[in-house]
Amino acid sequence: MNHAVLNTEDYGHSRQQIVAQVPHINIRAFCDDERTVQAIQAAAADRRMARAHVQIHMGGIAGAVQVFQSELTPNVILVETRANRDIVLAELAQLASVCGPETKVVVIGHLNDVQLYRELMRLGVSEYLIAPVHQLQIIESIANLFHDPAAKPLGRVFAFVGSKGGVGSSTLAHNVGWYMSRQLNTDTVITDLDLAFGTAGLNFNQETSQGIADALGQPDRIDQMLLDRLLTKCGDKLSLLASPGNIERDLHVEASSVEVILSTVRNSVPCVIVDVPNMWAPWIKYTLMHADEVVITATPELASLRNAKNLVDLLRHGRPNDRPPRLVMNQVGIPKRPEIPVADFAKALSLDPALTIAYDAQTFGTAATNGQMLAEVSAKSKSAEAIAALAQALIGQEKPAKPAKFSLPFADKLLRKK
Ligand SMILES: Nc1ncnc2c1ncn2[C@@H]1O[C@H](COP(=O)(O)OP(=O)(O)O)[C@@H](O)[C@H]1O
Ligand SMILES: [Mg+2]
Repeated sequence: MNHAVLNTEDYGHSRQQIVAQVPHINIRAFCDDERTVQAIQAAAADRRMARAHVQIHMGGIAGAVQVFQSELTPNVILVETRANRDIVLAELAQLASVCGPETKVVVIGHLNDVQLYRELMRLGVSEYLIAPVHQLQIIESIANLFHDPAAKPLGRVFAFVGSKGGVGSSTLAHNVGWYMSRQLNTDTVITDLDLAFGTAGLNFNQETSQGIADALGQPDRIDQMLLDRLLTKCGDKLSLLASPGNIERDLHVEASSVEVILSTVRNSVPCVIVDVPNMWAPWIKYTLMHADEVVITATPELASLRNAKNLVDLLRHGRPNDRPPRLVMNQVGIPKRPEIPVADFAKALSLDPALTIAYDAQTFGTAATNGQMLAEVSAKSKSAEAIAALAQALIGQEKPAKPAKFSLPFADKLLRKK
């Protein structure tokens, strides 16, 4: 039988779009192989596991049995084994005798053995992964243990940030959000985090409430109902969580409040655009680090280059299991302005731009003045086409899911029947 066993490189590449977040849980791992230790370490350091607490030991199943004779079992135990079927089953029976009823057990084995898989499932093992495991595979398996299969899939968060003020980041964010909702038929919420100077309301020519400020002002009360009241409807499939756009209110923003807001929004729509202001604070860093995708807009200038490089380096380093941010070079070719050539810019960042948008005062200026989208001003303009390309790239890149684990159609059915 030809089982689809995953090539780990391939896994990382094709499954970067996993959006699952692991809840506040304790995980103890008992490994038998250095590579598994490394994969679990990498998983534990990933943004999606930020809330989980992970402890890694060696010793395999026997090691776990020994530890839990005197300690309470955590939410999840990961055990690795190289043993054959009979020994694995015997050791797991011992583990079962010291395991609390709520504890979930995930086994990482080195055998691609259907019989073993069935036996493990019968024993109540939650998942069997075949080594070598990839860090994303571990994250996904653990997240799935706590995800209600009946719940709606989580939406994806796209954070837009400029490499300095005025580069066009907000304009792109709003236009991409509009395009996703209008042309790609996807429910979208644009969250304007630029509290004092945000322009989402202006760009959509909408009377908005203080949406985001009200939400940030009462993080403990945020739930779906409150959010629904704070959203401004902007189209069939588009809503704004608008900023007040005034300087009357002093708001102290915590990363945890942003986390609650964004996780509530992504529970209700597939697409969340976040307009991140050009400033630096812990909550800004949090927002960028935890987004599913980051779009950095930069102009071909020196300050922009320095700042974009800092952002790209930070994101590359802090999000090793995610694809790098997308770079948009904007306002290229302002008449008479000396510019850094886009190729040199890209080289300095070791990042090719996803898109280069020319300076187009006519189209952008008209859109900004009228409170319209670029496509409404001139659907055939290069700028509108660029927006369409960016929106499609962000939304359409999700490849069909590969089998994430040991998977046989009949084994799957067997599992569901249980
Ligand atoms: N490619 C472009 N050509 C001409 N004007 C642009 C272009 N991109 C953005 N703009 C204009 O630049 C100004 C600043 O844009 P904005 O999106 O508010 O920047 P940011 O959010 O990065 O501070 C706006 O008036 C916008 O219309
Ligand atoms: Mg802005």
